[in-house]
Amino acid sequence: MPDPQNFASPARLVIRQSNAQGNQNAVASFADDVRAGLTAQPKTLPPKYFYDALGSQLFEAICLLPEYYLTRAETEIFERYAAEIVRQLPSPVGVVELGSGSSIKTRLLIEAILANQPELHYQPMDISASILELSAEALLGNYDRLQVTGHVGDYTRGLETIERQEGERLLALFLGSNIGNYTLTEGRALLKTIRKALQTGDGLLLGADLKKPVQVLIPAYADALGVTAAFNLNLLSRINRELGADFDLAQFEHQARYNEERGRVEAHLVSRTAQTVHLRGLGINIEFQPGETIHTENSYKYDLPQLAALAEEAGFKPAKTWFDGERRFSCNFWLAI
Ligand code: TRP
Repeated sequence: MPDPQNFASPARLVIRQSNAQGNQNAVASFADDVRAGLTAQPKTLPPKYFYDALGSQLFEAICLLPEYYLTRAETEIFERYAAEIVRQLPSPVGVVELGSGSSIKTRLLIEAILANQPELHYQPMDISASILELSAEALLGNYDRLQVTGHVGDYTRGLETIERQEGERLLALFLGSNIGNYTLTEGRALLKTIRKALQTGDGLLLGADLKKPVQVLIPAYADALGVTAAFNLNLLSRINRELGADFDLAQFEHQARYNEERGRVEAHLVSRTAQTVHLRGLGINIEFQPGETIHTENSYKYDLPQLAALAEEAGFKPAKTWFDGERRFSCNFWLAI
């Protein structure tokens, strides 16, 4: 964590941290999750662990790839409709963001809100302390009417500590089709948790990727340059570093598959050979068959009826949806009812 004196304006910045120690029962540690995932059949690893300092930067690089249309499509929507989006709620508005990362796209919404009101309280949440601190400092350097309260940790913990200033409506942002990284059941539960953290009359802006031909989907998750492969493999490298394991990264291959029946892209790490990996820190060895995979991520793709059903189940009224010019991606404003 940088020295607080180095922040652009310490008075306007608070960063809170929740860690596993503070909530041992509710939050399983990295070690416990890795042990559970790698001893399961089929093997899995939870995607939230992608986002260490390097993983978060690799994801920012993914967002710049020609094949990864999602970020560009969502940015196009904000460039075109930010003013209309923020007008869905009466001023003054406060903003909460789940999985804020670099907050680059969010700048377009921040600027649109600051055109309507003198100040803005922005509450970003991210699992990566480093990217949250960097983006908060950069924002404060650029917007002198902004106040930032950042939350490092799980969304569920962050949502418990949301602040509301006198008389303001809250706009929650869940962008980049992050919702798609949850199964339908988990997604429903998370949306209900978001709804509970809000009040009637607040809003949720949900960025959701739309169903489309597999020829477009697969390259978005398996780019020619190999950045997505590096992002996926970094999870093994993190396990090596933090849990004393000896994964040979050259013996695993990144693979993206489209699961038609479930409507999702899956990211896997495929073992190239029969091999045994030693996880010294956990005191276990894990065997791999040739071609056996670790399933590391799902990215569900939606249609509009599915999104409307999700909204209603969670206690929101789907009020308005915006699309990019090619209708690849949707931004959905839901009103908390
Ligand atoms: N939220 C992103 C998405 O579903 C995460 C992501 C992008 C991702 N590319 C990935 C996760 C590759 C795993 C592997 O689009």
